[in-house]
Amino acid sequence: MKIGALKESFEGEARVSITPSSTGHLQKLGHEIYIESGAGRRSGFSDEDYIKAGATIAADAAELIKAVDVVAKVRQPEENEITQMREGQSLISFFYPAQNGELLEKAKEQGITAIAMDMVPRISRAQKMDALSSMANIAGYRSVIEAANNFGRFFTGQVTAAGKVPPAKVLVVGAGVAGLAAIGTATSLGAQVYAFDVRPEVAEQIESMGAEFVFLDFEEQATDGAATGGYAAPSSPEFREAQLKKFRELAPDMDVVITTALIPGRDAPVLWTKDMVEAMKPGSVIVDLAAEKGGNCELTVADQRIVSDNGVVIVGYTDFASRMGTQASELYGNNIRHFMTDLTPKKDGVIVHDMEDDVIRGATVTHGHDITFPPPKPKVAAIAAQKPKEKPKELTPEERRAQEVAAFKAETKSQVMMLGGGALVLLLVGLVAPASFMSHFIVFVLACFVGFRVIWNVAHSLHTPLMAITNAISSIIILGALMQIGSGSAWVVILGALAVLMAGVNIFGGFLVTRRMLAMFQKS
Ligand code: NAI
Repeated sequence: MKIGALKESFEGEARVSITPSSTGHLQKLGHEIYIESGAGRRSGFSDEDYIKAGATIAADAAELIKAVDVVAKVRQPEENEITQMREGQSLISFFYPAQNGELLEKAKEQGITAIAMDMVPRISRAQKMDALSSMANIAGYRSVIEAANNFGRFFTGQVTAAGKVPPAKVLVVGAGVAGLAAIGTATSLGAQVYAFDVRPEVAEQIESMGAEFVFLDFEEQATDGAATGGYAAPSSPEFREAQLKKFRELAPDMDVVITTALIPGRDAPVLWTKDMVEAMKPGSVIVDLAAEKGGNCELTVADQRIVSDNGVVIVGYTDFASRMGTQASELYGNNIRHFMTDLTPKKDGVIVHDMEDDVIRGATVTHGHDITFPPPKPKVAAIAAQKPKEKPKELTPEERRAQEVAAFKAETKSQVMMLGGGALVLLLVGLVAPASFMSHFIVFVLACFVGFRVIWNVAHSLHTPLMAITNAISSIIILGALMQIGSGSAWVVILGALAVLMAGVNIFGGFLVTRRMLAMFQKS
């Protein structure tokens, strides 16, 4: 089949749906690739790059649509793009069918198959085609960069000769794809990050990324992410009130607030109110990723950067992904080619539009003169609805002291029992064993004890490097082998050489593995 990428007609849009590298992958599926002239220019891909990759350049949109079977785009189609298409052709792009009823009707009338990349279900198998996530990931990253650009201080804390700089405090509201990307970026810049989400199951993910989960003192049935297709369900007015109260407490302390809270198909909830903005310090920054859907911040103006009366910068851009056009096109191009891989099961250039397939069915919004939106619920559950992490119980100082005393007593008891048992064993062995054996045996037992106590206190995450380094140290065997290798017997020499060789592998391998493991824990 022939697949073609249109130049985006939306003012300022820098992305393109097929890149030179995805061209190669699509060709391997047996497809021929067409590109509208200049389509990749704003993402840094020239027509020559596409020609080198084996694509054919079409002079304009009309020529491209005429030539191909599948039209690929990033933004939702314009009405005139749909009217130029013919019966049986496919369109693959963002579509937002819930908000674009008229476009759906148009696509149905034309008899085209419209595949909405924003409708790819959030199930594990479809992650590689999940364009919303790819774009949100970029937007989350970029929101922090934008915040840093508008913030007059370091993100990281520093102690310099000129004075101490505290780290910036960043609050991320909504820990979905964009929120988690923002958390990762802000922590890697050294900020002190706090995050909140209505789905308590994300607390662990937030903490594993080095941020602190903001717990709400509120009992509400945990939302089952899987049951709602991987998305949150709306929260009750009481919950919202508790949430706003918490945010009011945090507002004066936060330097940067990044809001990403959204439930698909609804307007963004207003979570950062005017009075919270007023409570923030001058020079603080709010980046509202939900600006397109009305914004999470009451003062956000979509597509603009404004400064509030008290000097808080509020950024409401809705094109963060496009602002990183090259990266966004690469990822979107990959999402499209993975979708095409599913549509081309035999890799022979023949598209099989299998409406029994959860992913294909979910994303298809018109097919064969029918509107096929909304799709039925996917047969497989959405990605990992994890058990919510329990909120740690707040202890009074007396309870905490009592807990510490109980733990100390239990530990002391087990240590006394171990020592008593060890002494008894030594005594029994000493009754029968010769004196020379006993001195070695006592050293051996003490070595085991000290080794055990040292290793027991090492964090689980460091066990592998620890094992590797003990491996290297235990290779002290090499010394014994070296001392024996000079003896006259051929067998001793062979065995000694073998021992040196194997111990050498152990030593160098141990240090190599340790270095690589430790590098994983180092912040570069
Ligand atoms: P997502 O659905 O993965 O994450 C949204 C998160 O908000 C979920 O974890 C949800 O539990 C949480 N949430 C919902 N209601 C909440 C509430 N009342 N309080 C706290 N948390 C709440 O969505 P994703 O993909 O991370 O996108 C986030 C936002 O970023 C969306 O508004 C999306 O439209 C926007 N976006 C903006 C771009 C831009 O250029 N400005 C580009 C890409 C995405």
